[in-house]
Amino acid sequence: MITCSAPGKIFLFGEHAVVYGKTAIACAIDLRAHVTVEEAGSIQMKGPGGNIDINPRKHPYIYTVVEKFKNLTDVSGVCIDIRSDIPVGSGLGSSAAVTIATIKALDIFYGTNLSLDDIAQMGHQVESEVQGRASPTDTFVSTFGGMVQIPDRKKLGYYDMLIVIGNTGKFSSTRKIVSNVAALKERHPSVIGQIMDTISAISETGIEYIQTGDFHTVGELMNINQGLLDSIGVGSKELSELVYASRKAGALGSKITGAGGGGCMIALCEHKNLSRVAHSIKRAGGDSFICRTSNSGVRAEGKS
Ligand code: PMV
Repeated sequence: MITCSAPGKIFLFGEHAVVYGKTAIACAIDLRAHVTVEEAGSIQMKGPGGNIDINPRKHPYIYTVVEKFKNLTDVSGVCIDIRSDIPVGSGLGSSAAVTIATIKALDIFYGTNLSLDDIAQMGHQVESEVQGRASPTDTFVSTFGGMVQIPDRKKLGYYDMLIVIGNTGKFSSTRKIVSNVAALKERHPSVIGQIMDTISAISETGIEYIQTGDFHTVGELMNINQGLLDSIGVGSKELSELVYASRKAGALGSKITGAGGGGCMIALCEHKNLSRVAHSIKRAGGDSFICRTSNSGVRAEGKS
């Protein structure tokens, strides 16, 4: 029996601008997906009431990973069990984490010796096939962990940051929101182009302040980034309510993470304010959980 885990991610800065080749900073968090694989009579998944067949419509990521492994080795009898702390469909990279942890677990199980680059690449292919189009960010961060500058995919050092995530619980389609922004940019190329340049400058300035541990200034830059995300139409009433509630409770800064329109926001906090911020987000109607940035990418949790 082999268990592997992989992390979810947040965007500290730069989502949407990165679609236009500008700089963004994404970071792994300590919410993880765990995947256990063990020998079985056929290819199965663990369901709530026992083992079930893997269904390409219900379990598209796992199904596609298994199909990829069939090209590498003889896949016949394996049961896959998934447990994840990462809320699904909220921009925290839950599908990437499940995909990457499954690839690593099957890699160990079958002795296919994939490198981390191979794992990230296969993960990106799986997400692209399932979703039609996928940014490589989620699978890259989930594989390598830590803080990553995109689009260069440059791993920056690790900096421990305390984050409260607020989830609006509202589904939002990344594809639709990205295309709304593209339409806005087409109508106002110079205005939106300059906003994207400014977001990129925020990311680049943000890296310096993260590296010197000046989280007050990092928070200030997150707030400026949030204003610009609002200006390109990816905010929502619910997201703004959580953002303002977190700031009122003492967060150093807060913003949308990911595509926006719904999904999650993040609040950078000092230790003394963590639970106040988390409660305040709850009172404002969101689900909240405390996490920290993490340097750990995909990893084996143990064999038995
Ligand atoms: O909502 P998420 O976590 O899939 O993030 C989307 C981030 C965008 O910059 C809006 C799109 C992208 O592909 O980078």
